[in-house]
Amino acid sequence: MTTKVQARAPGKVNLHLAVGERREDGYHPLATIFQAVGVWETVTASARDDGEYVLTLDTTPAVASSAHPIPLDDTNLAVRAARMVAGRYGISDGVDLRIKKDVPVAGGMAGGSADAAAALVACAHLWEVGATRDELMELGAALGADVPFALLGHTAVGVDRGDELSPAMTRGEFHWVFATSSKGLSTPTVFAEFDRQVDAGHRAVTEPQIDGNVMRALMAGDAHALGASLSNDLQSAALALAPYLQLTIDAALEADALGAIISGSGPTVAALGRSRQHALAIAAHISAVDVANSVFTASGPVAGASVISSGH
Ligand code: C5P
Repeated sequence: MTTKVQARAPGKVNLHLAVGERREDGYHPLATIFQAVGVWETVTASARDDGEYVLTLDTTPAVASSAHPIPLDDTNLAVRAARMVAGRYGISDGVDLRIKKDVPVAGGMAGGSADAAAALVACAHLWEVGATRDELMELGAALGADVPFALLGHTAVGVDRGDELSPAMTRGEFHWVFATSSKGLSTPTVFAEFDRQVDAGHRAVTEPQIDGNVMRALMAGDAHALGASLSNDLQSAALALAPYLQLTIDAALEADALGAIISGSGPTVAALGRSRQHALAIAAHISAVDVANSVFTASGPVAGASVISSGH
């Protein structure tokens, strides 16, 4: 019998993020293009038979540098994911969850959603519930708008809350630099600042649309064209809340990044390199000018959540 399962799920960057007007339910309609990149959340699920759910966190640089506390109780997304699998399939065992976080915390790269996706996959496997990917996607969407993409991975178009996904065609690999900020930005706060800018008449909102230039660049594997067409409607809101992020964007562009934007709701800045080597050079420049908390490189697209080991 399997008693221990390890699963991992990737972080993401939004290559394009168009945001419409706030809806009655508080969410905003989106038209976005996600790319999963090779920085991972790893969840180890170990069997218990006493019905308890116990979460522990490995101390990684992402956790150590975070100003945002990660809840260890039942509000944690990974615990909620495990409970959701148990509830759906009638499991009463309980589970130990251990999370190794490498995606920046509260960084705009959907690290919490990746925890949920990895926990869904790990628990479904541990308890041998026979869940289909579609069933896990449905549970994921109930946990958060970015969870279905963390399950799917690769590159995908997301509409509605960002959780109605269709895979995008891409060629080759893209080489990214991510510069984190220790302060963190909460997603609802950034959306609220977006609403404030709209209400103040500082920006117009239209029906969110996917940018054909991004889709063409992806299909051609053309990093220059992709860099030139990166866009994020949440960028001015994130910059209003954290103006110093402009220094990081400027540092990336000084190092000839093909494009540099705020990732999702920020504060992580994503910059695109011409090659893996160029990404490393951009990272070195950002580190040298000392404008970011930490800097790392990752390439995409990569696959979504999957089991990486299982045993006793
Ligand atoms: O779904 P999730 O819990 O990840 O979303 C966090 C918050 O981000 C929501 O409560 C909402 O304030 C904001 N959000 C939004 N529109 C979206 C996705 C998220 O306003 N499409």
